[in-house]
Amino acid sequence: MSARTPTALVFALTMSLSAQQPFVSNLDEAKVGKIPIPDVLTGADGKKITTKEDWLTKRRPELMKLFETEVYGKTPEGKLPGIRYVVTSEDKKALEGKATKREVTLFFTEKAEPHADILIYIPNARKQPAPMFVSLNFHGNQSVIKDPAIKLPMVWKQDKTTKTWSSARAEEPTRGDQAERWPIAEIIERGYGVATAYYCDFEPDTPEGLAKGVRPFYFQAGQTQPEPNEWGSLGAWAWGLSRMADYLQLLPEVDGNKLAVLGHSRLGKAALWAGAQDERFSIVISNDSGAGGAALSKRIFGETVERLNTNFPHWFNGNFKKYSDNEAALPVDQHELIALVAPRPVYIASATEDLWSDPKGEFLGGKLAEPVYALFEKVGLITAEPPDADTSVGDSIAYHSRTGKHDILLFDWQCYMDFADRHWGNPE
Ligand code: GCU
Repeated sequence: MSARTPTALVFALTMSLSAQQPFVSNLDEAKVGKIPIPDVLTGADGKKITTKEDWLTKRRPELMKLFETEVYGKTPEGKLPGIRYVVTSEDKKALEGKATKREVTLFFTEKAEPHADILIYIPNARKQPAPMFVSLNFHGNQSVIKDPAIKLPMVWKQDKTTKTWSSARAEEPTRGDQAERWPIAEIIERGYGVATAYYCDFEPDTPEGLAKGVRPFYFQAGQTQPEPNEWGSLGAWAWGLSRMADYLQLLPEVDGNKLAVLGHSRLGKAALWAGAQDERFSIVISNDSGAGGAALSKRIFGETVERLNTNFPHWFNGNFKKYSDNEAALPVDQHELIALVAPRPVYIASATEDLWSDPKGEFLGGKLAEPVYALFEKVGLITAEPPDADTSVGDSIAYHSRTGKHDILLFDWQCYMDFADRHWGNPE
C-alpha cells in the first residue's frame, strides 16, 4: 500500500513540476502579490506599540528574536579566546601623504589560521579622530586600490568545470580591479577613513565554506553543522564587521562613535544585519542589498526567498528554508530589520536597472520602518513614493536610486558622505 495520501501526491507532483520549471522572476509591479506586510509597531500579542520605551523593551527584542530564529540565525555570544590583532604594515604617507595606511591581521585564535586581513586608511589632515566607513570587499584587499605594497591574500575561486572551490594566492593583475567601487582618495579628501576586509576571510562564500570560517569556533563539542536557528554565512560576515569595529575602537586616531557600516549587495545584507545587532555602528548603509536585505520579501518581486535558499543555502539559517515559496508565513519582513537600526540613521540605495534587487521594495523597506523612527521624533523618508533617479531623499532614513546597474559607484559614496556630514557634522 502506498504511504502517500492524495494530498501528499498532489504536493509531490507540484514540487516536481516546479523543480523542473526554470525560475521566472516577477518584474511587473502589476503582478506584485497581495500578501499583507506586517505592521512594524504591532506586537505578536496584537497590541500596538506607542512609545519608544515599549519599542525598546518589548517590540524590538521580539523582532530581533524573530530575525535570529527565522532568518539570519543567532550570533553566538562571547569573545573567542585567543582572538588578536597584529599590525603587519604601516605607511604614514600613503595617497601622496594624505593618509595613513595600515594592514592589520585579525587572528581568530592563537593559531595562524583562520585569519582576516584588515586594510585601513585614515586621513592625515584632521584635528579630530576620524569618522570611518567599515565595509567588506568581494575580491580581497588588493582589489580595492592599485598599490603594489598591499599583501596579496588567499582568495576563493570556483572551478568552472568541476564546480569545486579552492583558495589560491590572488594574482598581481587583480590589484585595483574593484577600485571603481572604492573611491578611497575622495573618501580621504572628505575627511573620512575607511576600513575593509575580504568577506571570505570570515567564511568562504560556499556551503562548504562553513568549515573554514568562524562559525565552527562557536560549535558545541561534536557539533559539525549549525542548528536550524543558528547563524548562517551572513551572520559570520556581520560578525567580521563587528570585529573590525572592535579594533577601530581601540585606535586613538579613530572616532569610535562615528563608525558607519556599509555594504553592497550580499555584503549590504550583511551590513544591515551587522547594523541591526551592533549598536556601535552609528550609521548603517545598504547599497543594492535586495532580497534578504532592504527589499520586502512579501512583495515577491525580483529575487525571492526560494531563490535565496536554493542558490545560497548557507547564507541564512535552517529555519529560513520554511519560507521558500511561502512568504506569507514569514513572521517578519525586511522593513522590520531596518527598524531595528532606529533611531540611528540608515541609508538605503538602489540602482535603476537592478530590478533583481527590487528598488521599489528597497524604498518600501525604509518607508515602512518610519513609524519606529517617529517614536524617536526622527523624520524618515519624506516622500511617499520613490524619488526620481539620482535624487537623494530623506532625513534619518535616506534613499536614492542611481541610474545604472547593480554596483556601488562614486555617486553612491558621495551620497553616503553627504549623509554622514549631515548626521555627524563635517569631519574636522
Ligand atoms: C546575486 C544574489 C543577490 C546578491 C548578489 C550579490 O545576484 O541573487 O541576492 O545580492 O548576488 O551579492 O552580488
